Amino acid sequence: MDQSIKRLPARTLRYGVGRHTLYRGDCLKVLRSLPEGQIDVVVTSPPYNLGLNYGTYQDQRDEGDYLDWMLACATEVRRTMAPDASFFLNITGSSSRPWLPFELMVRLRGLFQLQNHITWVKSISVGEDSLGHFKPIRSDRFLHRNHEHIFHLTQTGNVAIKRLAVGVPYKDKSNIARRNHQQDLRCRGDTWFIPYSTVQARAQKFNHPASFPVMLPRMCIRLHGKAAPTVLDPFMGSGTSLIAAEEEGGRGIGIDVDAAYVSVARNRLLSSFRSSQAA
Ligand SMILES: C[S@@+](CC[C@H](N)C(=O)[O-])C[C@H]1O[C@@H](n2cnc3c(N)ncnc32)[C@H](O)[C@@H]1O
Repeated sequence: MDQSIKRLPARTLRYGVGRHTLYRGDCLKVLRSLPEGQIDVVVTSPPYNLGLNYGTYQDQRDEGDYLDWMLACATEVRRTMAPDASFFLNITGSSSRPWLPFELMVRLRGLFQLQNHITWVKSISVGEDSLGHFKPIRSDRFLHRNHEHIFHLTQTGNVAIKRLAVGVPYKDKSNIARRNHQQDLRCRGDTWFIPYSTVQARAQKFNHPASFPVMLPRMCIRLHGKAAPTVLDPFMGSGTSLIAAEEEGGRGIGIDVDAAYVSVARNRLLSSFRSSQAA
């Protein structure tokens, strides 16, 4: 039994996979059972209230109720965070409901500082060339929505991060000596192009309607910069953040209300172990 847990809420199931812990239950209840100040990095993508077809969760509620619920969840998330922790919150609106992410951020102002605002670019056209994938929309008003937000929230706004852990090589190498840089790496900036891989079937997306690419939580964990961090995802879905925690040498804690998604996440972690042992 994980000694850091006070008492498991009723109707919650807990599974251990390697150094990771997965919960099937309501995140608000599970979060309340977690101890204070232990989490280093939170990476999560909550339901966006856009009517997606999740198994258990109904993704269409009154907007005020949704925002109240998110505020309650974020309050509990904050309680679990170490003082120098990072909370990476991935969310987007839709073309017809564009305000939601911004309304949410305004609600969270009393809890967090917005230390960085990262734009996750899923698809981009440069000149005549196009890279990455997006969900096309039919419209004579709106452009395709090719990006989402990653809000980097901290308690103080003053948390040191490792920018070069997600850095990129200088394009102009003469800058390295001229500006006295120690290595051929510069800050990537706050626009991250992280494409989805091309898939032919839903199963390749873990039968989940809204998973993010594993590189997204990996980059967040690296940017936070703590070795062997404890990583929390209160809306774990198919377990992508836990896979990222595993690959970055961390310990993951994931929660999802849906038994099928928790099962997918467990299986993903198990096959990640098997392939790392086979390598
Ligand atoms: C956007 S998805 C997360 C996807 C995840 N990032 C991935 O890569 O698979 C949001 C998840 O929140 C879960 N969820 C909804 N309400 C919840 C609750 N009260 N407690 C825990 N999980 C919940 C849904 O089942 C869904 O899997």
